[in-house]
Amino acid sequence: MLLALLTVLAWAWPAAASVAPQPIGSTCQRRCGGVDIPYPFGIGHGCYLYTGENDLTFGLTCNLTATGSYAPFCGGLEVLSVSLPRGKARVRNNISSWCYNATSRSMDDQSGNLWTDVSDSSFTLSDEENRLTVVGCNSLAYVSSSSVSQFATGSDYMTGCMATCPGGAAAVLQLENGSCAGMGCCQAAIPKEINSYGVVFEEKFNTSQIKNFSQCSYAVLVEALAFDFRTTYVTTADFVESTGGTVPLVLDWVVGKETCQEARRNSTAYACVSSHSVCVDSRNGPGYLCNCSRGYEGNPYMQGGCGDINECEGGEYPCSVPGTCINTPGGSRCTCPDETTGNAYTGTCEAKKSQLGVHIAIGVSVGVVVLVISMSCAYMIHEKRSLATVKRRYFKQHGGLLLFEEMKAKQGVSFTLFTKEELEEATGKFDECNVLGNGGNGTVYKGTLKDSRTVAIKKCKLIDERQKKEFGKEMLILSQINHRNIVKLYGCCLEVEVPMLVYEFIPNGTLYQLIHGGHHHHVSFATRLKIAHESAEALAYLHSWALPPIIHGDVKSPNILIDDNYTVKVSDFGASTLAPTDEAQFVTFVQGTCGYLDPEYMQTSKLTDRSDVYSFGVVLLELLTGRKALNLQATEGEVKNLSSHFLLAANARRLDEIVDVQIVNEESIEPIEQVAGLAKQCLEMNSEKRPSMREVAEELGRLRKLLKHPWGQRSSEEEMRGLLVGSPTPSTYSDVELSNAYVSLDDSAYLGVQSPR
Ligand SMILES: *[C@@H]1O[C@H](CO)[C@@H](O)[C@H](O)[C@H]1NC(C)=O
Ligand SMILES: *[C@@H]1O[C@H](CO)[C@@H](O)[C@H](O)[C@H]1NC(C)=O
Ligand SMILES: *[C@@H]1O[C@H](CO)[C@@H](O)[C@H](O)[C@H]1NC(C)=O
Ligand SMILES: *[C@@H]1O[C@H](CO)[C@@H](O)[C@H](O)[C@H]1NC(C)=O
Ligand SMILES: *[C@@H]1O[C@H](CO)[C@@H](O)[C@H](O)[C@H]1NC(C)=O
Ligand SMILES: *[C@@H]1O[C@H](CO)[C@@H](O)[C@H](O)[C@H]1NC(C)=O
Ligand SMILES: *[C@@H]1O[C@H](CO)[C@@H](O)[C@H](O)[C@H]1NC(C)=O
Ligand SMILES: *[C@@H]1O[C@H](CO)[C@@H](O)[C@H](O)[C@H]1NC(C)=O
Ligand SMILES: *[C@@H]1O[C@H](CO)[C@@H](O)[C@H](O)[C@H]1NC(C)=O
Ligand SMILES: *[C@@H]1O[C@H](CO)[C@@H](O)[C@H](O)[C@H]1NC(C)=O
Ligand SMILES: *[C@@H]1O[C@H](CO)[C@@H](O)[C@H](O)[C@H]1NC(C)=O
Ligand SMILES: *[C@@H]1O[C@H](CO)[C@@H](O)[C@H](O)[C@H]1NC(C)=O
Repeated sequence: MLLALLTVLAWAWPAAASVAPQPIGSTCQRRCGGVDIPYPFGIGHGCYLYTGENDLTFGLTCNLTATGSYAPFCGGLEVLSVSLPRGKARVRNNISSWCYNATSRSMDDQSGNLWTDVSDSSFTLSDEENRLTVVGCNSLAYVSSSSVSQFATGSDYMTGCMATCPGGAAAVLQLENGSCAGMGCCQAAIPKEINSYGVVFEEKFNTSQIKNFSQCSYAVLVEALAFDFRTTYVTTADFVESTGGTVPLVLDWVVGKETCQEARRNSTAYACVSSHSVCVDSRNGPGYLCNCSRGYEGNPYMQGGCGDINECEGGEYPCSVPGTCINTPGGSRCTCPDETTGNAYTGTCEAKKSQLGVHIAIGVSVGVVVLVISMSCAYMIHEKRSLATVKRRYFKQHGGLLLFEEMKAKQGVSFTLFTKEELEEATGKFDECNVLGNGGNGTVYKGTLKDSRTVAIKKCKLIDERQKKEFGKEMLILSQINHRNIVKLYGCCLEVEVPMLVYEFIPNGTLYQLIHGGHHHHVSFATRLKIAHESAEALAYLHSWALPPIIHGDVKSPNILIDDNYTVKVSDFGASTLAPTDEAQFVTFVQGTCGYLDPEYMQTSKLTDRSDVYSFGVVLLELLTGRKALNLQATEGEVKNLSSHFLLAANARRLDEIVDVQIVNEESIEPIEQVAGLAKQCLEMNSEKRPSMREVAEELGRLRKLLKHPWGQRSSEEEMRGLLVGSPTPSTYSDVELSNAYVSLDDSAYLGVQSPR
């Protein structure tokens, strides 16, 4: 049995090591003598971050101490604890003592004073947390050291302090516990960037004259918070006896000796591998550390190590109203419960206005309305006939009948012809306060239909022939599409002079607002990738799945809507065309938006699906850089034309200068580079060299999966199970899941088309 198990282990180990160079948590010893040992620290081969043959920083051993218990050791130093977020380790440090020897009637020699040296490692002595501490009544001690940044010119005296008891034996009685300020005890700070030190006692200040009440001088570099001065330290050997001769010393460590900027360039060696991790330059000497981003906690040095903090549990409750906290990735939000309104962050939630009063008000107004209606009835009957005629004329004019025929032919598309009255009711007679957006050529209103669906209603201003055509096109195209990432057209109203379109309402504005909006909220790389992927899916659907294929023609961030789950809805099909079936079909004028426009299309006036790919490439750049596609107000030195600026930066391999700092800090450079590479392909001048939208979507889907389930995260248990049952390791992700993205046309959802009255 045992032999069999060993064989399996012997097989499994090298396999696991070669597949995933990252350490595998479950097989490594992560505790020794009550001390937690998180990666990059570790015990044994493959369990810690290897930084070179002579670097002793992260590889620990679990050995017996002098007292017979186990403890982790780093070289000769016993490690007491390790902190990842702060980049600190506490080790045991020896107290140097210098005592009068009554037998030899002299001061004992100082050969026992050890040199503490961490120069062969990524450690430095923490200047923040340690203090040179000298205890005695006639004691002057120095720290001598060689510094990291200086040339090795031997040791230099650095800092020291003197402890005295003026007044002799009587003064000892005046000493105070806890007060280390020169009387019997003194402390001095040390400089930054020190990685070795020794203690030297000044010979002239010895205890030979005060041996009767204070026999020894002590000096040590000690964690300031761990030292509490006792009067007995001066008069007895209590300092050494109560501490066992050792005190804690705090070391700062770095995971690499480069700066963050340098480290990000080499993605194979870059240690901040977790998503939601940031790189932090060390404040004590050269090098960098990793930390989880704000709102996340865990181990930034392991794939997927940083997990979301549930702010609603533990710690300080973030909301002023109990029970309103909702945890979100990287944060939390405070939302008043249903039926109440208010500010749950700082204020209170109050019940909505009493319904009773509303009912009474409704009752009264209904009475008035009935009166008015019956009075105007006679007049209405008179007018009605002529009004109906006008409506029917408009309906015809907008191709209503044609559309109606088309809809009938394609049963299965849910599409409603709304009456003018319905839409007036929904928007409160197109009330100003329901205006969502105001373009030069139309206004978009927010409305609520009778079935309580919230909708966006696009009402065009007076339109010319071209716009009329655009309008019809948008209606026709959208009415045929049913994709979860394309805005849904519920229907339209044709009875008015200027037609109106009724869309599903997308609550959270456009991608443009999200990226360039005033309140610059943090949008994580994962979210950006999701937005890019879903937009690409929508366009790929239009290009290759819709029948006939559709070219969007005006892909840009203001046309990508975002709902409250960051789900993408591509909108505005005013510039779209059905892909020409015969090659000779050219558009007569170039439409689109500067900054996104395919340069080849500008020259040839021939709109192809690769023009959308180009425009999408620009949207990818916006997501990566957080900059606008075209910034005409840009001054000298600022980015004016994003695509040309990006291509320059990418060719000079200086991506990090242009990529949004928000994501550079949180994400390792590798996926960012991959997205940038994809954008570069989309921006090829020659449209034939650009990938298809389907290829772009697949690549983004693959990157998204990699970001979610990186290889390194698989535990060795899974690896082993895989080996034992002999299941093949998948090498690529299949497309199976992508096809789930498409919402099939809903046969049953055909809503009766309301015929014109
Ligand atoms: C710890 O133990 C290992 C073997 O168990 C030994 O090689 C090493 O020298 C020991 N280290 C210390 C600091 O005692
Ligand atoms: C890492 O983040 C934590 C929590 O935000 C913070 O307390 C700590 O100081 C950070 N560490 C560094 C080295 O900046
Ligand atoms: C402290 O003293 C012990 C025993 O003399 C020695 O093994 C250890 O290396 C010393 N530690 C330091 C930090 O000098
Ligand atoms: C004091 O000195 C004597 C003689 O030199 C020596 O044998 C003894 O070990 C010393 N005692 C201490 C505590 O160092
Ligand atoms: C200081 O504390 C020690 C015990 O830690 C005690 O024996 C001593 O009497 C205290 N001295 C004063 C002055 O309070
Ligand atoms: C102690 O210091 C005095 C001067 O303060 C000096 O004369 C004497 O030699 C020193 N004794 C020893 C043992 O170092
Ligand atoms: C120290 O104590 C001894 C006896 O214990 C005494 O003979 C000597 O005079 C004392 N010396 C001082 C300086 O107080
Ligand atoms: C990146 O790091 C790896 C691993 O430390 C090293 O082998 C490689 O040479 C480095 N590449 C560059 C360009 O520095
Ligand atoms: C309105 O339409 C005209 C052409 O009919 C066009 O030039 C203009 O850009 C449009 N305005 C907006 C805001 O879309
Ligand atoms: C969407 O908007 C709502 C209300 O304005 C806000 O509470 C929510 O956080 C937003 N969601 C996103 C994903 O921006
Ligand atoms: C957002 O996600 C939540 C939970 O997954 C879901 O209940 C909600 O309906 C979604 N909202 C939209 C607009 O899709
Ligand atoms: C922006 O740069 C691209 C690539 O260099 C170029 O094709 C395009 O014409 C430029 N756009 C504008 C508005 O300058």
